[in-house]
This record gives sequence, structure tokens and C-alpha cells, in this order.
Amino acid sequence: MNDIAYYNGKITAINDMMIPANDRGFYFGDGIYEAAMVYNHKIFALEDHLDRMANSAAMVRIELPYSKERIGEILTDLVNQVENDCQFLYWQITRGTAPRNHLFPAQVPSNLYVYSKPCKGVEMSDEYKLKSVEDIRFHCCNIKTLNLLLNVLAIQTAKENGCQEAVFVRDGMVTEGSHSNISIVKDGVFITHPADNLVLPGIERKHLLAYCRELGIPAEERAFTLDELKAADEILVTSTSHPSMRVMEVDGQPAGMKDPETIARFRAKYMEDIAK
Ligand code: PDD
Repeated sequence: MNDIAYYNGKITAINDMMIPANDRGFYFGDGIYEAAMVYNHKIFALEDHLDRMANSAAMVRIELPYSKERIGEILTDLVNQVENDCQFLYWQITRGTAPRNHLFPAQVPSNLYVYSKPCKGVEMSDEYKLKSVEDIRFHCCNIKTLNLLLNVLAIQTAKENGCQEAVFVRDGMVTEGSHSNISIVKDGVFITHPADNLVLPGIERKHLLAYCRELGIPAEERAFTLDELKAADEILVTSTSHPSMRVMEVDGQPAGMKDPETIARFRAKYMEDIAK
């Protein structure tokens, strides 16, 4: 198959999948999701994604429809049915199907929706431009919830300003991107926001911290200001689908691009990791 969709056991091409309108994801965004890359038909960092999925579900009190292990098997089986070696895999779990009512529905199983589609390969760029926007999101950004309205508005604002990503700023401190984590390198030190309730605990962010340990690069998990971002030697925008986007401009001013060796070391580690 070229691409694949799955909904509670039913399998079709993505465009042919039908989801009931009473799925609570549709009314309330009442669900959580994950996105992972697939290289050579292997789901990269699957355990990390399954662990975060279980944490997100627990934080919003959604019971998983199957065990973590069973969900991993379902995902693996699906990506093996898609021809392309490189795929973008998405899955979400919503709080079941029931007539619209804010209260949790009684005794309704949660819904698992999955799709996987071909993609080009590893996305790395040296040309990202960032637009800062005020972070007015709720204080539970560590949950990978389907509720992404303010993230959608932020990336649209960035695009309309000629940028590829928005950088959220809360009380003068950089939190993260609209769909990425944002980290800096200054004087050889890697700095990234702590994995608290103000950012998503990104899998790539976690890998970068591990690469720092392996490479002997000092790392600090602390918030930094927008001014520090602008004065950084390097600015790195990371996510599953775009693991290493290097920033050259913030709010219309040249930024970063002063420590190419550190970026090259991170990128080499990532390529090593996905080849394992
Ligand atoms: N987004 N912060 C936010 C708000 C995100 O949406 C994402 C990822 C990240 C990076 O997390 P990770 O390294 O685990 O991908 C940080 C995904 C890719 C998406 O919504 O498509």
C-alpha cells in the first residue's frame, strides 16, 4: 500500500477512512496523540513514544484501548504494510464515541486512530527563520493533547511573517516552538527548557541531552530569555519529523550559525542512531 489508516481495527487507505462524528476527538479534541518517524520499516524510538503516549493518556485520565505492547505491535504491523522505507507515523487515542456531552461517557472504550504515509527522508535545514509570539497556551503543555489551536495560530503567524517556525515566549522566557522544542548552544554549552509543564517533553530534545552526555558537551536544562536566544551561537529547532533545523534569523535579525561543529556532531549522532 502507498499509505495506510487504521481505526479500531478497520484498515483502509488514509483518504478512505471514515470516523464517526461522535468520536470525542471531533467535538472536544478529547484525546492525545503521538508522531514518530519510520526508517527502513522500523519505528524510530518506539519505546520513547509509547511511554509518552501512556503518560499523556494518564494525565487526562484516558484508559488506553490496549496495552502499550499491543499498541506497539499494531503500529509495527501497519508500517510493514506501507511500501515506502521512510514513513511519518501518527496515532491518536480519544475518549471514545458518545453523543456530545462534556462529562466522560460511561463504559465506552477509547478509540485508536493511526495513519502512516511516505516521507522524503531525514529533514535537516540550515535556513530556519523564527518569529516570536506570546505563549498564551494553558499550563499543561507537557500533555501531547489534540488541542493545538494556539499552536496552529502561532505557526500561521510565523508563516505570514516569512518564517518557518514560531517561538513561544512566556514572561520573557522562551518555552518551545509551535510544533518543536527550541534549544541553544552558547560558548559550547547546550541549553534547553526544563521538561516541566510549560513544554512538551520532546523525544528529540531527550535524544539531544543523551548525545551531549555521550559527546561530553555540557548541558543545562533551564529556561532562557528571548535575548539569550537572539545572542546564542546556535539555535536548534527539533521534532520527530524535523530533527535538526538550524536557525539563521529571529524576528528579522540574523542569529545563530556560529558553532557549526557542534551542530554537525549532533547530526552525525542522529544518523548513527537511526541506522541502528
Ligand atoms: N510535534 N513541542 C511541541 C508543541 C510539539 O508539537 C512537538 C512535536 C515537539 C517535539 O517533540 P518530539 O521531539 O517528540 O517530536 C515539541 C509533532 C512532531 C507534531 O505535532 O507533528
